[in-house]
Amino acid sequence: MEKRNGWRVTFSKEMSARIAIVYAECTRGKKTENGEKSFMYDLIREPDGSAGTAEPSRKERIRSAYKVTGGHASFYDGMMTYSTIPGKVICRVIWNMDAEKNLRYIETAFSGIPENYSGRILEVPVGTGVLSMPVYKELPDADITCLDYSADMMAAAKEKAETAGIHNVTFVQGDVGNLPFEDNSFDIVLSLNGFHAFPDKEAAYAETFRVLKDGGVFCGCFYIKGGCSRTDWFIKNLYQPKGFFTPPYETEESLRKRLENMYSEVKITVVEGIGCFCCRK
Ligand SMILES: C[S@@+](CC[C@H](N)C(=O)[O-])C[C@H]1O[C@@H](n2cnc3c(N)ncnc32)[C@H](O)[C@@H]1O
Repeated sequence: MEKRNGWRVTFSKEMSARIAIVYAECTRGKKTENGEKSFMYDLIREPDGSAGTAEPSRKERIRSAYKVTGGHASFYDGMMTYSTIPGKVICRVIWNMDAEKNLRYIETAFSGIPENYSGRILEVPVGTGVLSMPVYKELPDADITCLDYSADMMAAAKEKAETAGIHNVTFVQGDVGNLPFEDNSFDIVLSLNGFHAFPDKEAAYAETFRVLKDGGVFCGCFYIKGGCSRTDWFIKNLYQPKGFFTPPYETEESLRKRLENMYSEVKITVVEGIGCFCCRK
């Protein structure tokens, strides 16, 4: 029996053994060329395995920001960025994701935002901003609005923006099902890991569509059912009873059908139990 932060979870013998192996892998780390141990070795390398250029690219700077999160992260931030030991254990055990898969889904979810973008972006829900603030640091000319229901989560996002010297983000507390914005007001609507939590998903789809300009981009990611059976089990038996996730959930097929009915171009990429989407209105 495990009891942490109010969670009470019973693991089977097989699952406990699996957790122990994953935990051992995470704590062992990997060696860099100069012999130092680095848990994030995979993240700071290019996909082709090269060490990258001396001058960090935008992508490398964003990846590095996720990496340093581990030093002083909350449990939530460490989990989202695969940068703390408990976070890595959750990613591997519940989501069947290693560092590469975790980074792949995040970068795919952001793929609808071009480099040096200067248009109007709405992010909903921003949460603690752990995934998006490093990206916004690279978009000083964009006009960014971040919305979340939770003042506590958003306070953490605001703090990150202040610490990083990001001045082009406005924070608004509100409900995705009743967005306080005019029709057709944003060039991009970004939604990371929100739709599986939203209680009224129909209202959320309708509202994110309404505030997006014609020709604008709706992109992001969230949990989908059927991508990884182990994840499905944990969602049903753990996340849902705790109220972190709210059914009904999309499958890859239902999400594709829904988005194709609303948007003119739709691209969906599935990484284990996460569906990433990029659509044009
Ligand atoms: C799992 S977090 C995702 C946060 C962030 N996008 C990320 O990827 O780390 C889900 C967020 O949805 C927010 N949320 C839930 N229901 C909402 C609603 N009806 N309107 C706006 N935000 C909502 C919660 O407050 C929480 O911050």
